[in-house]
Amino acid sequence: MTEIIEGIELNQIYNEDCLDGMRRIPDNSVDLTVTSPPYDNLRMYQGFSFDFERVAAELYRITKDGGVVVWVVGDATIKGSETGTSFRQALHFTEIGFNLHDTMIYQKKNPTPLRGNRYQQSFEYMFVFSKGKPKTFNPIKTKKKYMENRKVKHYNRRADGTQISREYKSEDDMKVISNIWTYTVGLNNSTKDKDAFNHPAIFPEKLAEDHILSWSNEGDVVFDPFLGSGTTVKMALVNNRKFIGFDISEEYVDLSKHRLIRYAEDGFCYCGKELIWQNDFDEVCLYSCLDCEVDVFKGSKGGI
Ligand SMILES: C[S@@+](CC[C@H](N)C(=O)[O-])C[C@H]1O[C@@H](n2cnc3c(N)ncnc32)[C@H](O)[C@@H]1O
Ligand SMILES: [Zn+2]
Repeated sequence: MTEIIEGIELNQIYNEDCLDGMRRIPDNSVDLTVTSPPYDNLRMYQGFSFDFERVAAELYRITKDGGVVVWVVGDATIKGSETGTSFRQALHFTEIGFNLHDTMIYQKKNPTPLRGNRYQQSFEYMFVFSKGKPKTFNPIKTKKKYMENRKVKHYNRRADGTQISREYKSEDDMKVISNIWTYTVGLNNSTKDKDAFNHPAIFPEKLAEDHILSWSNEGDVVFDPFLGSGTTVKMALVNNRKFIGFDISEEYVDLSKHRLIRYAEDGFCYCGKELIWQNDFDEVCLYSCLDCEVDVFKGSKGGI
């Protein structure tokens, strides 16, 4: 079933400038944005650029009270100096009303080696902005290491005066992880979807998923104004969130659609409509969603 919030269909991605698209999204309607804008025109993305201040203002307007925006950015080095654009953007977000809830680090375990007089560039910022206090926080936890879990020893004495010591472990074996998140990037690591690498600057699926699980609940609306290969919307779909996405490049929207449809419920498009059988080819059949103009090959006819 197609869901609509006022002027815009949910579970859909659109080939348009995000500023045009966001105009159709009502005030206070998005639970979580996870996005990575073009950085400092580091990669020119077929010549496209964006008006940062207007995008920030629109993000504030469409975010629900308690909603969160995760802004993943790094800085270019121009004439020997890092631009600092990331910091300027972060401060601007606070000037227009967002809280800077957390400055997190996305560390790459296997960064691209660079030559020159600097240490290996191995991280980007993940600024977590919230509109008021975050309404959802499902912290990711990890098992405590043995030493962290040990409690002070308790000593008792036997009747003969010798000592027995007992170690009591804490009830909770888990601890909340740190705000530095480390991922191995590249082919088969960032994603297993080979076609995603037709985009030059994807972030890892796990990064998007970790934020989606942390700052939203099932059924919430997740948004990405700069879709790229569609990582955020794919992970929203896989984790039962609703989604909206924009990219100005037709090629990347097409790529995202083909990526998304593979992960939709069997027999259905990611938009919620039933897929229509088109044709048989040997072992596989071609199904389409005419609304989304997207095709998918699946097992034998009737088998989806
Ligand atoms: C850093 S990439 C996003 C990558 C994405 N996070 C992923 O994992 O694939 C930024 C994207 O913004 C798009 N873009 C640039 N200007 C835009 C605009 N004004 N509106 C919408 N998309 C835009 C580019 O085409 C590019 O795909
Ligand atoms: Zn569809």
